[in-house]
Amino acid sequence: MRKNIVAGNWKMNTDLAETQDLISDLKKIAKTSDAEVIIAPPYTNLYSAFEAVKGLDISIAAQNMHQSASGAFTGEISADMLKSIGVKTVILGHSERRAYFGEKEDLLAEKVNTALDNDMTVIYCFGEELKDRNFSEHFEVVNKQISNALFHLDSAAWKDIVLAYEPVWAIGTGETASPDQAQEMHAFIRKTIADEYSQEIADEVTILYGGSVKPNNAQEIFSKPDVDGGLIGGASLKAEDFMAIVNAF
Ligand code: 13P
Repeated sequence: MRKNIVAGNWKMNTDLAETQDLISDLKKIAKTSDAEVIIAPPYTNLYSAFEAVKGLDISIAAQNMHQSASGAFTGEISADMLKSIGVKTVILGHSERRAYFGEKEDLLAEKVNTALDNDMTVIYCFGEELKDRNFSEHFEVVNKQISNALFHLDSAAWKDIVLAYEPVWAIGTGETASPDQAQEMHAFIRKTIADEYSQEIADEVTILYGGSVKPNNAQEIFSKPDVDGGLIGGASLKAEDFMAIVNAF
């Protein structure tokens, strides 16, 4: 079901004490919007974060997951392991995973399948690089990133998919897509899904924008009709900023 979501991707930040401090700071700030709130701390802090948010209107996501059920994959984490500590949402396909860890869409399609087979929700990230936009290839790139990793799914699977459009040039750079650029791409994404599946599925899917969302620009970006929320990096590490973004709806 389409809903407003603000998710914080903490990336490789926060140790155990910092995770607990950040969550206790989040608790102190009233949530005044109807947005669903998700935080994605690093693996080592997922369990303590899950315990710390009990009773709060916050859920926990992992930042990545291996596609196999178990086995000789040193350093990796499976869906079962995440579920055993209560984590039912996973971010897949983040541009940093693609760029630094070589994750390609055939692998991402496998990871998506594993997550869905385990009744998890996937936040699937994608977005063009600056050179793609400069060559006016951003729509084509985004179309491929979505279709290669997700268009093998049947219609029913889409209820567990959240999309996160994160133009690489806007991540951690302080440069955001303008609200109109975000809207233009989100509308394109919805049309791409409508063409492949149905208008109903396209209308129901939640599409987040990510890339330098801050308290001072969130409201304008979220006011766009096809933008259903944000995937927040840097600003999710400060409780006040993150909650200001949550309350920007
Ligand atoms: P920033 O908000 O720091 O630009 O990061 C966005 C992001 O990559 C969220 O996944």
